[in-house]
Amino acid sequence: MRSSMARKGPESTRSSQLLAWYDVNARVLPWRARGAEVADPYRVWLSEIMLQQTTVQAVKAYFEKFVTLWPSVQALAAAPLDDVLKAWAGLGYYARARNLHACAKEVVSRFGGGFPETEEELRSLPGIGPYTAGAIAAIAFGGRHAAVDGNVERVISRIYAIETPLPESKPEIRARAQALVPAQRAGDFAQAMMDLGATICSPRDPNCLICPWTEHCQGRITGLAPTLPRKQPKKAVPTRRGVAFWIERADGAVLLRRRPEKGLLGGMMEVPSTEWGAQVSDAEPQAPVAAAWRKLPGLVEHTFTHFHLELTVWRAEEVTDGALRDDGDYRWTKREDLAGEALPTAMRKVVAHVLPDMSSPRQKPGPGFGRKPRRKKAGSRLSPG
Ligand code: ADE
Repeated sequence: MRSSMARKGPESTRSSQLLAWYDVNARVLPWRARGAEVADPYRVWLSEIMLQQTTVQAVKAYFEKFVTLWPSVQALAAAPLDDVLKAWAGLGYYARARNLHACAKEVVSRFGGGFPETEEELRSLPGIGPYTAGAIAAIAFGGRHAAVDGNVERVISRIYAIETPLPESKPEIRARAQALVPAQRAGDFAQAMMDLGATICSPRDPNCLICPWTEHCQGRITGLAPTLPRKQPKKAVPTRRGVAFWIERADGAVLLRRRPEKGLLGGMMEVPSTEWGAQVSDAEPQAPVAAAWRKLPGLVEHTFTHFHLELTVWRAEEVTDGALRDDGDYRWTKREDLAGEALPTAMRKVVAHVLPDMSSPRQKPGPGFGRKPRRKKAGSRLSPG
């Protein structure tokens, strides 16, 4: 008799390969069911909502805090909104926290406390869009749904060497991704795709040598992989400029500030910065605290939907008067805790600019910040700004 592998179509062979890889290499994440455990829809939903917001690394601590405070959807629904907003602080975009709470209430009032299983019903709940509905339906209930986010778009574009630029290629990517979803273990498959995109099929430097799909990956075979997915050239956007202030205390803690709740990156933490305007003056900018500031070479650049940002970074090794304590919107954060802060990407780039050796080259700036012994102070002191 022929082996079952020999009878499989290419999609089913690929999904088996990826699942076999996942069985050995799955990331251990607090919201994931392990081994014989059954996924808990509440934990799956909570993690997916938080992951809309920021990186896996930053979400871990928030997730743990939420499930400790509110171990079930009923408990979360019964919590005062203010408590939920307080626990969310630092994750940013409070509208998401409001929707989270509203969703918990609806799950209780409309569905008796059990999350609905279909993508359609999930989408009828506050804060759940198409991606999140697909991810929950697959991970919590085993529904045959592809959860296609940016990582998965990249993986699919590469294995099929799709050269049509995004967003035009989206329907093809979706169809290809959906065709790969196996009838069994759709949830594991969705998470395996996420892990492959996050750990191997990385944006600039895919590690094809250890990829479970290397043999058939058209992107690798044609040498196009690192250039995919192609993207439609961005529309020209205005440039805004500003100055970010990186200050470290003698114990190595770094000063962060919470952004105002309303507006861009509302409520998220940042390296304190000036206003972002059309020009930045060459004179010494207004720093949040008196210290021996010096300007670092180079620029940090980040493009938002409506403008391009250029930040120069000024750095000081310590506060000369030691006066600034955790206070209001300001907070000192240990270097090794920076990776766990819900910093927006632009700010993760600032961290990577100041501490290039704290971000591994295989990851986008930010999530890879590791531990690093405190550097010796620079010998030359500059005059206070
Ligand atoms: N990104 C979005 N959802 C995720 C999940 N469940 N696991 C890891 N990364 C994710």
